[in-house]
Amino acid sequence: MKIIVTGSLGHISKPLTQELVQKGHSVTVISSNPERKKDIETLGASAAIGALEDVAFLTSVFTGADVVYCMIPPGNYLDQDFDIVAHYNKIGNNYAQAILHSGVKRVVHLSSIGGNMDKDNGQLISHHHVENILKELPADVAITTMRPTAFYYNLYGFLPSIKTQGIIAANYGEDDKGPWVSPVDIATAVAEEITGTFDGRKIRYVASEELSCNEIAIILGTAIGMPDLKWHIISDEQMLDGLKTAGLNPAIAEGLVEMNANVHNGKLLEDYYRNKPTLGKVKLSDFAKEFAAVFNSKPTNN
Ligand SMILES: NC(=O)c1ccc[n+]([C@@H]2O[C@H](COP(=O)([O-])OP(=O)(O)OC[C@H]3O[C@@H](n4cnc5c(N)ncnc54)[C@H](OP(=O)(O)O)[C@@H]3O)[C@@H](O)[C@H]2O)c1
Repeated sequence: MKIIVTGSLGHISKPLTQELVQKGHSVTVISSNPERKKDIETLGASAAIGALEDVAFLTSVFTGADVVYCMIPPGNYLDQDFDIVAHYNKIGNNYAQAILHSGVKRVVHLSSIGGNMDKDNGQLISHHHVENILKELPADVAITTMRPTAFYYNLYGFLPSIKTQGIIAANYGEDDKGPWVSPVDIATAVAEEITGTFDGRKIRYVASEELSCNEIAIILGTAIGMPDLKWHIISDEQMLDGLKTAGLNPAIAEGLVEMNANVHNGKLLEDYYRNKPTLGKVKLSDFAKEFAAVFNSKPTNN
């Protein structure tokens, strides 16, 4: 099959490209960086260099494809002028236009847990909007919506407080239990959807392991030689102050606090537990090895 992969050689798209090439498919990877061309070709794929903001470029790349994998790059949370909703809407609308005008009939869309919610999901509202944009495509366009849960790599966000205060702190934690996922398991699930037969509309959650925050603290703490590491719950106000002090865009900081609060009260996880997937292979203990390597390579004040 001729498959288009967006997201360059990012966390999901690199293992996804490797798996699809290995299965014998013809894969074109979209990157915004001309310097990535060689690395993409080394994997056995073709490179299409251009921006997801450019609808004419997308339409031309999508034309003739059997399936497209559509993801939206997260953007820069430190940019004080970043408008996450406008960013997702723009690229989501470009995907819809490019799918319509290229005639592609099969789409795998990377959304998120919380993509079902029209409120109380913080910055994940952007995924909800894009799900709605793609829903409007004609019925003969088959769409699988992937809703991965929290990525293990988010845990790198706690490196500074572990280094400086010896704790993890957020406005959820302790006994709060939830699903976490490796991008490698997401890539496997996306590849299954792309290469399987599908028509109509389908939603698929993706998770690797369900863990309480206390369990996460023990696994990460043990890996970095701090077996007594604890994950404390702080107030929404303390969380917001901390994120703003760390330099986050204020609207994103507010979104993250709202999202976390709804992990703590369970609302954000309700639809996941109603539609629980088979868990993937990569466990937190695997990620903890990478986490420890990064922890040990960073200076204390970073
Ligand atoms: N973190 C979580 O817990 C979580 C949970 C659920 C869903 N998600 C979603 O997962 C997605 C992130 O997936 P990921 O980690 O695989 O992505 P990623 O590693 O951030 O990769 C995105 C790649 O897209 C390329 N890119 C960036 N801007 C571009 C543009 N304007 N035009 C063309 N290409 C561009 C970049 O590569 P080049 O420099 O080569 O262009 C970048 O490496 C986001 O949509 C996020 O909301 C995250």
